[in-house]
Amino acid sequence: MPLVDSKEILVPAREHGYAVGAFNTSNLEISQAIFEAAAEMKSPVIVATSESAIEYAGFVNVFSTVRHLAEYYDVKAALHLDHGKDLDIAVKCIMHGWTSVMIDASKLEYEGNVASTSAVAEIAHMAGVPVEAELGRLAGIEDMVNVDEREAALTDPVQAEEFMERTGCDFLAVAVGTSHGAYKFKGEPKLDLERLSEIAGKVEQPLVLHGASSVPQDVLETAAKYGAKLPGAKGVPEDAIKEAVKRGIAKINIDTDLRLAFTGAVRKVLTESPEVFDPRKILGSGRDAIKDVVKRKIRLFGSDGKA
Ligand code: G3H
Ligand code: 13P
Ligand code: ZN
Repeated sequence: MPLVDSKEILVPAREHGYAVGAFNTSNLEISQAIFEAAAEMKSPVIVATSESAIEYAGFVNVFSTVRHLAEYYDVKAALHLDHGKDLDIAVKCIMHGWTSVMIDASKLEYEGNVASTSAVAEIAHMAGVPVEAELGRLAGIEDMVNVDEREAALTDPVQAEEFMERTGCDFLAVAVGTSHGAYKFKGEPKLDLERLSEIAGKVEQPLVLHGASSVPQDVLETAAKYGAKLPGAKGVPEDAIKEAVKRGIAKINIDTDLRLAFTGAVRKVLTESPEVFDPRKILGSGRDAIKDVVKRKIRLFGSDGKA
């Protein structure tokens, strides 16, 4: 089917208590894996592209590939700009056919974040494109040495309510202890789920969890067995993800777990079959591994059968 806007996917998710994966892509194989998994699971899906992914693959290549795959696999999908830094990139994506954008002005002080987010929301809404914004700083709770630091970094529920009213944005990415990449926690994984519930009590729009990869042990072991060096990598436990969905998270961003799965599978082929030099055999194994991860996420998030 044609690409849909992300509100069409996320509003029902928030209302009915499940979450939809936003999976990052930067090439054909990752995009195919995402769509094949979503089609088999009858799940809606959000295909996310960072600015650097767009730079790598090209606006038109990304858009035409993702739009075609949504039609070919008949999947309900949105094409989303992940962590857009300003109005300029948001407008470029909208003009190229993206159906959802994020403005990430969370590094600015509060008023700056409100101003940037409001400006993007005003323009994007004229084009019928929903907007995600972020409030708070993504960082592991254990890295915050005292209460003041913690309060400054994590999303404040009262401020979140005001932020949504003032900016008119459609989805809110919250900081509750997750962070990007494969090293999220030094010790025991810990999220501030109480805070998430408080935010959900004040913000009725879909909430977004960034940095939500779980760094699954089996995926990590395969990558390590074939030479990847990722000592101490640790992600968000799947139980915590389930709990976060129960408490109001409707969009879950996953990139790291796809990268790890791809790396492990490609390393395995190259190590076990050194005679292989056909890129399709090398990249195809990565594609299959990503597809397995996406299916596992869809099951965990509860979006299977919700297309
Ligand atoms: O949140 C960021 C995503 O993992 C994308 O990262 O800028 O390396 O494409 P990237
Ligand atoms: P991970 O690094 O945990 O996969 O998070 C990805 C993300 O938040 C993309 O916006
Ligand atoms: Zn993110």
